[in-house]
Amino acid sequence: MSEDRVWLTNQKGVQIFKLTQNHLKDALALMRDSYYTDEPVSKGLRLQECPGAIDDLEQLTIETFKDGSSLVALYEGKVVGASFNKVQTRSKPGEETYFEHFRDFKCKTDTAKENMNVMIQIDAKIDTFAHYQVDVLLELMFLGVSRQFRGLGVGRLLTEATCLLAKSQQIPLVTAIFSSNFSQAIGKSLQWSELCTIPLKEGEEGKGAKT
Ligand SMILES: CC(C)(COP(=O)(O)OP(=O)(O)OC[C@H]1O[C@@H](n2cnc3c(N)ncnc32)[C@H](O)[C@@H]1OP(=O)(O)O)[C@@H](O)C(=O)NCCC(=O)NCCS
Repeated sequence: MSEDRVWLTNQKGVQIFKLTQNHLKDALALMRDSYYTDEPVSKGLRLQECPGAIDDLEQLTIETFKDGSSLVALYEGKVVGASFNKVQTRSKPGEETYFEHFRDFKCKTDTAKENMNVMIQIDAKIDTFAHYQVDVLLELMFLGVSRQFRGLGVGRLLTEATCLLAKSQQIPLVTAIFSSNFSQAIGKSLQWSELCTIPLKEGEEGKGAKT
C-alpha cells in the first residue's frame, strides 16, 4: 500500500496519512505540546513536572511507530494531529504483555511506570483477546490533536482512519482507552462497544473496542 495514500479527508482540507519517518519528528513534537500536557491521565500524574517520564513515553510512541500502523493528520502540509497505534498480540499464559514489558525494561522513571500501570490495570479488567476471540488487535494508544485544531473533527477522522488501516492490515479489532470526554464522544459517535468504565479518580475513564 502506498505510503502517501490519503486514508480520510474532511471538508476543511485535513488529510489523514500513515505516519512515516517524514513526519515522525513533527508528530512527536505535537504529542509533547498537546498530548502529555492535556490528556487527563498525563495531567493527573503531572507528567509536565517530570521531563524524564515524557522521554520514556516518547520512546513508547517511537517503538509503536515502528509497527507501521500509526497515523498523522496534515493541514496544508503541517502536522495537526496524530494517533500512535500499537499492534497488540495475545500473550501466552504467564508471559508479560507488551505494556508490562515496556514498563519493566524500558521505563526509567516512576511517573512513566505509573502511567503504564494505568493502561495495564485497565487492560487487566477485561481480556479483550478472549472476549472477541482474536489473537491480534490494533490499540489506538495515544491520540492527540493540536490545540488550535480541536473540535474540528480531526480526532474523529484519525479514529475512523485507524479502523480502516486495521482492516487493510487484516487486523480484526481496534481498541482504545478513552480517557478524555472528547475521545469518549468519538467512540460513542462511531458506535464503539464500551467494555468497561473506570472513574476518573482512579486515573482514567473508559475502554472501548470496535470490531
Ligand atoms: C481528545 C482529542 C484527541 C479530540 O480531538 P478533536 O479533534 O478535538 O475531536 P473532534 O473534533 O473529533 O471531536 C470529538 C468530540 O468531542 C467534542 N469536542 C471536541 N472538542 C470540544 C470542545 N472544546 N468542547 C466541546 N466539545 C468538544 C466534539 O463536539 C465531538 O463530539 P460529538 O461527536 O458529540 O460532536 C483532543 O481533544 C486532544 O488532543 N486532547 C488532548 C489529548 C487527549 O486527551 N487525548 C485523548 C486520550 S484518549
